[in-house]
Amino acid sequence: MNLEIIKVPDPRLRQKSKDLKREEIKKLKSLISDMVETMRANDGIGLAAPQIGQNIRLAVIGKQAVPNKKELVLINPKITKRSWRQIKDFEGCLSVPGAAIEVKRHKKITVAALNEKAEPISYTVSDYLARVFQHEIDHLDGILIIDKKINEKTNR
Ligand code: CO
Repeated sequence: MNLEIIKVPDPRLRQKSKDLKREEIKKLKSLISDMVETMRANDGIGLAAPQIGQNIRLAVIGKQAVPNKKELVLINPKITKRSWRQIKDFEGCLSVPGAAIEVKRHKKITVAALNEKAEPISYTVSDYLARVFQHEIDHLDGILIIDKKINEKTNR
């Protein structure tokens, strides 16, 4: 099912989302597949649960950003390591339509999370994928690219 993506200034984008419990994770299957479908339908590279109005710590990452070309599910993600080095680049967001905003991100991060089977998993990612992870994790804390804006390019 293609879900509605909420946009600024919807206050649900600004809430800090809640961690999921193991027994809750087992009930997420259809929500995860709906989020993947919605992300694909909107040509998104990632989608976080607050963007469909659910304040839970869940995000999906599009396969085009992932080395093994499979969609990736992040549940309760936590950044455990950050490179000192940061890189600036332009980002878009399905909840902030029409703008490309330049944001500074850590070049390399390590993230501890749970997968859709509630198994612990750790990812060390860099460059573009690290940027996507940081963008989606920010959504779970109610942070948007407009908060981190260095520069902006409008497409119109
Ligand atoms: Co976004």
